[in-house]
Amino acid sequence: MPERSGNLADDPFSRRHPTAHERLTGLPWDASYHDGPAPWAVGHPQPAIVRLASEGGFAGAVLDAGCRTAENALHVASLGLSVLGVDVAETALATARAKADDRGIEVEFASADAFELGRLVRRFEPVLDCGLFHTLVGDERPGYVASLARVTKHDGTLYVLCFSDDGPDTGPPPIRREELRTAFCLSNGWNVAAIEPDWIETRYHDDGAPA
Ligand SMILES: C[S@@+](CC[C@H](N)C(=O)[O-])C[C@H]1O[C@@H](n2cnc3c(N)ncnc32)[C@H](O)[C@@H]1O
Repeated sequence: MPERSGNLADDPFSRRHPTAHERLTGLPWDASYHDGPAPWAVGHPQPAIVRLASEGGFAGAVLDAGCRTAENALHVASLGLSVLGVDVAETALATARAKADDRGIEVEFASADAFELGRLVRRFEPVLDCGLFHTLVGDERPGYVASLARVTKHDGTLYVLCFSDDGPDTGPPPIRREELRTAFCLSNGWNVAAIEPDWIETRYHDDGAPA
């Protein structure tokens, strides 16, 4: 990735290339956590993640990519698993660390760019993406998917919870099954084991949005 020139202190994107969401809003992700709860800040772990955990879906060293204030990561860690949550939003990470302290749950957090996960120099199994993939537009996905592959153990599992285009009240932006199959294909190291319908809770969907 080419280095951006200029003073890091003046760069709200900390020398990252802004993602599509950041280009659209003109603000770094961190700004989502400055004035009141973000639309996706539901205040509890996503029910789909809780169910997955109860079914034994998490074992080993877990990476939560785009962990925000870590309700999902904290839930998984509370089951006794080793969890690293990463995000670019320092405000969210500070809240995550405070929650972990308050609850006495051991979780590791790091400020890290999901496009540069190889810099962690560690591998995980499984990896969780809850609501990050669906914020990326088409040309951003190959770089992110490759980054995920660099930190996922061989034969490890990646769980992606994203908005789907099933049903009338979809979340923005809905992802079609074909988009998942295109992004996570054999040629870039992934095999799609299953695409299953679920729900993502948001602050704007009474019964959750199709996922
Ligand atoms: C829609 S939120 C979902 C957050 C959380 N997983 C949840 O379930 O509530 C997407 C998160 O990904 C983070 N994010 C976006 N781009 C990122 C990047 N390049 N590297 C790391 N985190 C990123 C944002 O800061 C934000 O917290």
